[in-house]
Amino acid sequence: MRHVYSGKVRDVYELESFDPPRLLMVASDRVSAFDVVMAETVPGKGQILTAMSCWFMELTSDIVPNHLIESLPTPTGVGEDIDPDFVGRSVVTRRAQMVELECIVRGHLAGSAYKEYMASGTVHGHQLPAGLKLASALPEPVFCPSIKNAVGHDENISVERAREIFGSGLVDRLADASLAVFARGSEAAAGAGIVLADTKFEFGYCDGELLLCDEVLTPDSSRFWEADLLEPGREPVQFDKQPLRDYLETLGWDKTPPPPALPTEVLSALSARYRSAYERITGQSFEDWLSRAKAASLTGGPGCGD
Ligand SMILES: Nc1ncnc2c1ncn2[C@@H]1O[C@H](COP(=O)(O)OP(=O)(O)O)[C@@H](O)[C@H]1O
Ligand SMILES: [Mg+2]
Repeated sequence: MRHVYSGKVRDVYELESFDPPRLLMVASDRVSAFDVVMAETVPGKGQILTAMSCWFMELTSDIVPNHLIESLPTPTGVGEDIDPDFVGRSVVTRRAQMVELECIVRGHLAGSAYKEYMASGTVHGHQLPAGLKLASALPEPVFCPSIKNAVGHDENISVERAREIFGSGLVDRLADASLAVFARGSEAAAGAGIVLADTKFEFGYCDGELLLCDEVLTPDSSRFWEADLLEPGREPVQFDKQPLRDYLETLGWDKTPPPPALPTEVLSALSARYRSAYERITGQSFEDWLSRAKAASLTGGPGCGD
């Protein structure tokens, strides 16, 4: 197992005993706010987000194939014993050649899209009706591509610009798949009283096949809002990270590293929120995920990705 990458939240290893090599993607309990990774970790977060992403990948696999080989890795899937720390938080995937286009879908107005709309009435260059407010629902979900610019920052671009860079055929496929997965995900969340405001997908090629990769519809890649508390024009209540944001706001922290120390109450409140998002949306119990993960890692029995 060769370590190939560590992002803000996940660590990626290559399983060299397979040909072609597979990836082991491990979601840590790290949490970030305002793009700064906190010093403390949120108990269970990596396992909960892994469970959620796997659930959504399964829910949408008829729309677009995804990179998952094993969502509950068995020792055979990993090619060696599973580190007990990885149980329930790791997936084995096909290694793809990533398409360097972030496929964002926006159903509500927030973040950088809200700023652009206020400045120009557009979102990623797409004209929207006048009179929308922060958190307003868009007339229909919009495909909003973004690329990493020369200095490594995300830059929102128009669909036309994406077509110039990546070709119309590919961009149309990415847009269709992204919008369809978003619609399926929104429906599932809505059934639980949760609004899926926006999300980001990543795709890649493997053996000539276009695959949905990375993580799908987790709180790290999406904005989830409590539907009951949604009021356009007011700052929406983030279903998952609100206790962290509220706490940080009380400190007057300038949102640059180093991050302030977090009390254990805030960390356990966050942990409970992540768990509740998973259980409400999927109708599954997190304990059940953990026991299935443990059983797979011990017996080498089939995982649900088989
Ligand atoms: N199937 C795959 N094949 C190759 N790379 C992948 C695959 N799925 C996801 N990735 C990449 O793995 C990395 C996951 O790490 P992550 O913690 O999300 O990092 P970051 O903070 O850079 O987003 C990302 O760079 C993502 O593009
Ligand atoms: Mg990422």
